[in-house]
Amino acid sequence: MKVTVNTLQQMAAEGQKIAMLTCYDASFASLLDEAGVDILLIGDSLGMVMQGEESTLPVSMPEMEYHTRCVARGAKRALVLADMPFGSYQENPAQAFANAARLMQAGAHMVKIEGGAFMAETVRFLVERGVPVCAHIGLTPQFVNAFGGYKVQGRSESDAERILADARALTDAGASLVLMECVPAVLAKAVTEAVAVPTIGIGGGLDVSGQVLVLYDVLGVYPGKKARFVKNFMAEAHSIQGAVNAYVAAVKGKTFPAPEHCF
Ligand code: KIV
Ligand code: NA
Repeated sequence: MKVTVNTLQQMAAEGQKIAMLTCYDASFASLLDEAGVDILLIGDSLGMVMQGEESTLPVSMPEMEYHTRCVARGAKRALVLADMPFGSYQENPAQAFANAARLMQAGAHMVKIEGGAFMAETVRFLVERGVPVCAHIGLTPQFVNAFGGYKVQGRSESDAERILADARALTDAGASLVLMECVPAVLAKAVTEAVAVPTIGIGGGLDVSGQVLVLYDVLGVYPGKKARFVKNFMAEAHSIQGAVNAYVAAVKGKTFPAPEHCF
């Protein structure tokens, strides 16, 4: 059975953890799908891991469409989630819809946008027009220049309150999924309890509906700086299949993330 927005909702309600990984091509899509990964994210992290860029900002719409098409061809069961790249949705809801439609036509089942409550109007515009949305909050890498680096978000009480309000506004607007990156585990837990949709964490602790990592971090092939929340599952595996199976099992069995991966 194909994973849909309803499957994700049901998994979260039943306390079954959602396993998500980034994916950029058809062969890995097929392998990840076979291993039981529930969501394949065509992340704009491809700018860093595939293209060697220093941030996700240079990634273009044609590049995202190309990789989304590749992944969609290899996915059978998994839900295909595509990132909207920097500059493709921030202007206004109409711009966001035009570009989201291109990703949906390339095979995405949902799109992901970064930003807080100020993106709620755009989320509503997309959702009302048939585009499910994952809201990415906390450390939003497209804001790296505004943040002055990749830093944990929501450490102070006021920041934590703002992130909680962001999650509420975005889900009130119709977001189907909330992804939180690099936030204290207590905040990820509070957001998960506050919203009615599943939450996905990356560096957000165990008390969320599911986990995501960048595939190249899971396989230990990314040469750049390794974030604290990353785990190389290849270190103890004998094959790529083995590493991905171990990741899925660790997410489902709640042994990943461990305390050393959390803030
Ligand atoms: O682009 C990406 O890979 C992401 C994940 C890190 C969540 O957005
Ligand atoms: Na991304």
